[in-house]
Amino acid sequence: MDNLSGRVAVVTGAAGGIGLAMAKSFASQGMKLVMADIEGETLARSVAALRATGADAIAVPTDVSSEAQVKALADAAYSKHGVVHLLCNNAGVATPALRILAWETPLSDWEWIHKVNFMGVLYGVREFVPRMLAGGQAGHVVNTASVAGLIAGGNPYFVSKHSVACFTEGLYKDLRSIGAKVSASVLCPGLIRTRIIDAERNRPEIFGPATDVKTLPEAQRLQSATFRAALEEGYDPAEVAAAVLSAIQQDRYYIIPAQQRLLDVIALRMNDILAQRNPTLPVA
Ligand SMILES: NC(=O)c1ccc[n+]([C@@H]2O[C@H](COP(=O)([O-])OP(=O)(O)OC[C@H]3O[C@@H](n4cnc5c(N)ncnc54)[C@H](O)[C@@H]3O)[C@@H](O)[C@H]2O)c1
Repeated sequence: MDNLSGRVAVVTGAAGGIGLAMAKSFASQGMKLVMADIEGETLARSVAALRATGADAIAVPTDVSSEAQVKALADAAYSKHGVVHLLCNNAGVATPALRILAWETPLSDWEWIHKVNFMGVLYGVREFVPRMLAGGQAGHVVNTASVAGLIAGGNPYFVSKHSVACFTEGLYKDLRSIGAKVSASVLCPGLIRTRIIDAERNRPEIFGPATDVKTLPEAQRLQSATFRAALEEGYDPAEVAAAVLSAIQQDRYYIIPAQQRLLDVIALRMNDILAQRNPTLPVA
């Protein structure tokens, strides 16, 4: 999809971070925006700020872990514009400590993270793609996975992002196999300066309590602090948005705005697989 002006983009997780940066970048191309997020007040402020720059944007408060709310988002987008050209399933969550042993992570973490990170993407594709195909116009779906979806780890964040990466590749192939005018990309960012490490601010009570970092074993507390520091030094979300924009315009599937050291870890894992070597252990 190269001429984006006047076309309609739906972005989830659009109140802040990568989602807001994508919305701003699409608006700069003259796209109309439907912005969704679970944080209604922050979303309203972000949409108002974009509209103040002349953008055509509406806010649709949405919890992507609810199929009914994602359907309501699609209904709102289609009733406002009658068409959607670009869907960014971007909302996602994480816990602040990733290096918990595979058998120790609470089941409630698995359930919450899976529900938002993977089911949220699945609901988005199921609600929007049939309508996008029926509309007959060119379109694109960008699903936000992560470098964590290309390397491996026994925790819910990594597993959920593998699901997104796997599913999106299947989506891409299925769209190609029917000769659709709609294409797909997977977004796998590295370390980006956002609030992802504080994602439990949006954790519903039904999925159990948020992580109390102070009570974690020292190794996990240190890992969490290292992760926070690495994110603070990460890329600006605007860089991710720029990579997404050019991938949509050039119909590129893989979007991996990631630090070289993370690209090296992806290569190491791929080479382990091809050499049928045992997985290389993480450095720290
Ligand atoms: N920041 C990074 O380093 C990084 C790296 C790789 C992938 N990602 C992915 O990028 C995406 C965006 O995250 P971010 O880094 O901008 O973090 P962020 O926390 O700054 O933004 C995420 C947004 O999603 C919203 N959200 C959370 N749960 C939601 C729900 N159930 N329904 C709707 N909205 C919800 C939040 O309110 C927030 O506005 C996520 O999928 C994340 O996993 C981030």
